[in-house]
Amino acid sequence: MDQVLKGQIAVITGASSGIGAGVAKSLAAAGATVVVNYPTPSSLPAAESVLKEITNAGGAGMTAQCDVSKEEEVVNLFAEVVANYGTVDILINNAGLQRDAKFDEMTLEQWNTVISVNLTGQFLCAREAIREFLRRGPRPDVSVATGKIICMSSVHELIPWGGHANYATSKGGIKMLMQSLAQEYGDRKIRVNSICPGAIQTPINRAAWETPQALNSLMTLIPYNRIGQPSDIGNLAVFLCSDQSDYITGASIFIDGGMTVFEGFATNG
Ligand code: BGC
Repeated sequence: MDQVLKGQIAVITGASSGIGAGVAKSLAAAGATVVVNYPTPSSLPAAESVLKEITNAGGAGMTAQCDVSKEEEVVNLFAEVVANYGTVDILINNAGLQRDAKFDEMTLEQWNTVISVNLTGQFLCAREAIREFLRRGPRPDVSVATGKIICMSSVHELIPWGGHANYATSKGGIKMLMQSLAQEYGDRKIRVNSICPGAIQTPINRAAWETPQALNSLMTLIPYNRIGQPSDIGNLAVFLCSDQSDYITGASIFIDGGMTVFEGFATNG
């Protein structure tokens, strides 16, 4: 892969599994030094194995623990990265989870857990990243933009999702957070965009792909008839962080095999 991100420091939250791990690998392959964030000590082995894969392939980086929903931990994470590498150029605001429940049975804890990690976590990390971009100022030797943030959203910032109202709400919130930041900091040359994945084969949606029946039923929602892979998202993330996408900011980019063209309407409606 071209070293389009050479010399840049990228923090990827929730990078010990799933889409975050895939994005960390792709960014590292494109030359970025990656910070593989993981939430709790129990995910350290997984984070270490992601980093090992990266270093075995010639990439560089570190692991760093931080629960993105905790202000002090987020502040410390960015301080640690700046102490180690001097600055941050890229934030992949990826950490996210689901706590699914029928709405009339949803507990406040299920609601709060999802909003705290998926939405408040993105607020806290974006705020620290932007503070660092502003402190450091332009680095024209590595990128035209002073800083880049990618918010991991979902097709569910557009598609309502019964049984997952907390999750869909968090993703709808991310859309306005991302656009507000793009509007507020564009003149400081900070680019902020969202990636909106459809069904990507990761632990978060195992039930949707682990049996042939589940996978067949999933395919009725995906015109392109395959489940996505973390590397699909990684490739897009590299592009969105590189100067090749320098004129893109404030955009939600859907990457979903066509899920958002609503295949069910192909023959009727
Ligand atoms: C969810 C997955 C789901 C996909 C498509 C994602 O945001 O995390 O569980 O399979 O959207 O519905």
